[in-house]
Amino acid sequence: MPILDLTRAATEAAVQLPAEYALNDAERTAAIGTWRGRMINEHISARIFAGLIPQMMAADIGADHIKTVADFINEELTHAEKCAAVVRAVGGEPIAALPDLPPVPSHPECEPLEAFVRNLLSICCMSETVAVALIGAERLETGPDNIEELLRTILADEVGHARFGWRLLDELSPRIDDAMRIRLSDYLISAFQHLEEHELDHLPPTASPSRTAAAVGVCDGNDARRLFFECVETVIVPGLEKRGFDGRRAWDAAKTLRN
Ligand SMILES: [Fe+2]
Ligand SMILES: [Fe+2]
Repeated sequence: MPILDLTRAATEAAVQLPAEYALNDAERTAAIGTWRGRMINEHISARIFAGLIPQMMAADIGADHIKTVADFINEELTHAEKCAAVVRAVGGEPIAALPDLPPVPSHPECEPLEAFVRNLLSICCMSETVAVALIGAERLETGPDNIEELLRTILADEVGHARFGWRLLDELSPRIDDAMRIRLSDYLISAFQHLEEHELDHLPPTASPSRTAAAVGVCDGNDARRLFFECVETVIVPGLEKRGFDGRRAWDAAKTLRN
């Protein structure tokens, strides 16, 4: 199993937890687990953007957009280092085993543009938009100024990743004919199912162990779940509908399949 060891970057960043946020053992364990989990997720996000690049080339997407996605790879790797710095600040080692990494779906049954738009929808318009909502809310709860500032810089990048998706979707609209739009709307059902499964997996429905733990990033999982559903309903579904995709039907179908 590959090991992710970000000790060097975390040590260099030298983030310290202010004395007034001293953690007891349970709080420390929860905080280490939370930030180590984020460190892994951010790191493996880099590979998702890397997987998009050959698909963008095949789909005849402009070089400027490809360069932007290449920058996103670096940003996600940097987010992982920032999370590693917090792992260290709360008393943990920023070392973790990486999970199995399935490749970014290539959708071989689709032509290149449709295959790429599927992933653009799923990655930028869905996952990154949810990341903006969750990190934005968390930032408001964060106590220490240095961790809040670190989350602010991560959030600014995630906003860029989500906006990129919605804007590129607009730009590609003339290349998406009615038949492709219908097929993509059908695809959204499985994309929503995957999104919900993935997000809920990372948001256990448990309360934060304490106010101090919440202030250093161990959020209330129930609140985060509520925010996830609100983000889908009030941002993602309307955003898709506005662009001519049947987002409402797809989300409703995904919910029916789940029940
Ligand atoms: Fe990120
Ligand atoms: Fe991101």
